[in-house]
Amino acid sequence: MIAIIPAAGLGTRFLPATKAIPKEMLPVLNKPTIQYVVEEALAADVDTVVIITNDNKPAIREHFSSDEALVSLLESTGKSDLAAEVRTAGCLPVSYLIQEKPLGLGHAVYCASELVRENQNELFYVLLGDVLVPGNQMLQQMTAVSRAHENACVIAVLAVPDSETYRFGIVAGVSLASQGEPQVWRITGLVEKPQSNPPSNLAVFGRYLLTPKVMELLGSTEPGVGNEIQLTDALIELLETEEMYALVIDPDDGYDVGTVNDWLNTNNRMAARALSSAGQA
Ligand code: G1P
Repeated sequence: MIAIIPAAGLGTRFLPATKAIPKEMLPVLNKPTIQYVVEEALAADVDTVVIITNDNKPAIREHFSSDEALVSLLESTGKSDLAAEVRTAGCLPVSYLIQEKPLGLGHAVYCASELVRENQNELFYVLLGDVLVPGNQMLQQMTAVSRAHENACVIAVLAVPDSETYRFGIVAGVSLASQGEPQVWRITGLVEKPQSNPPSNLAVFGRYLLTPKVMELLGSTEPGVGNEIQLTDALIELLETEEMYALVIDPDDGYDVGTVNDWLNTNNRMAARALSSAGQA
């Protein structure tokens, strides 16, 4: 399966840190956020990871390129653990597509439309670098929900406080708890960054499993909120012809790194997690 990782945005929420460094290269502990996302995809049933980037972001390509000189230097100074880490980052199988202009998330995803078409039109993932999934289990859970519902689209959602709904895409829907699926909702509507009256407090949380029809719709999606081509708008249109489901995730399943505060919190949570697994080892 294909996983599309959009990484061509301006990173405005992190300026000036992101003036020269892409947002996706900001570290959580000792790894750039985008490496977690690539590893999450590869831990699932993904064989093609495509990063949507732009020509101003060479650091992402450099990070995923091999650096034998650095590996040799580390090995010759007895730092074989670090050498292995550097080698791993340089060996991860990723490919790139260029988004010429930052026209929005929907446009970034559409940059991979030909690839999705070539891939026998199977479902594909979109993974946003704003979210880390430390246990790497969410994509498998989403696939299971999709299979249970005739290979429909599935979006991960997280319950957020009312004061935060304006930052996210928010879903309207019907819980399937009474049908024995406590974590699943059938989506009936979506609103991108509602400024008032959000239809729920379930926020679209950076992981999508989508049918190829989404690409078709993105081809004619007009700019929406923020004058950007929004993935949410194509999904709203998709609802006219296809069913769509939300997987309600646990706050411990996905960590937000989309704002400076969330990124700081995530570093702390990941540090605590690392300490506790070191303690158990
Ligand atoms: C994007 C999506 C939004 C989603 C969010 C998750 O917004 O458009 O629906 O809730 O990612 O992080 P962005 O954060 O790129 O503005």
